[in-house]
Amino acid sequence: MFIAMNRFKVARGSEAAFEAIWRERDSRLGEMAGFKSFHLLKGPVTEAHALYASHTIWASRADFEAWTRSEQFRQAHKNAGQNKDLYLGPPEFEGFETILGE
Ligand code: HEM
Repeated sequence: MFIAMNRFKVARGSEAAFEAIWRERDSRLGEMAGFKSFHLLKGPVTEAHALYASHTIWASRADFEAWTRSEQFRQAHKNAGQNKDLYLGPPEFEGFETILGE
């Protein structure tokens, strides 16, 4: 199993706009081999920002990497740079390999 997380620092006051972008997106993750699940998570809120993470589970790192090279990934991100005013800095990506688990 492979977990891919991209963390976004969203400026306070922009949370609803950020959530709307994700709620209204055309998702094609379900078309991908090895795709298991997607969640958009909201984490700690500070005075400056609200932390969000896009969290996906894949059968393997190779399946995730194939998605990042796919037409589906390109389409999902064609407008991703257009709302820079919502964010404090660029997103931070982290990938996790399963070591133990049921
Ligand atoms: C390897 C790095 C990245 C991963 C793992 C990732 C993950 C994801 C996932 C899982 C989705 C949903 C796709 C779908 O449902 O079909 C998505 C969409 C999105 N990503 Fe990324 N992403 C990455 C890079 C980026 C970067 C660099 C940005 C910002 C510049 C970004 C911003 C967005 C936005 C705003 C959406 C919603 C798109 C929309 O419909 O407007 N992502 N991303």
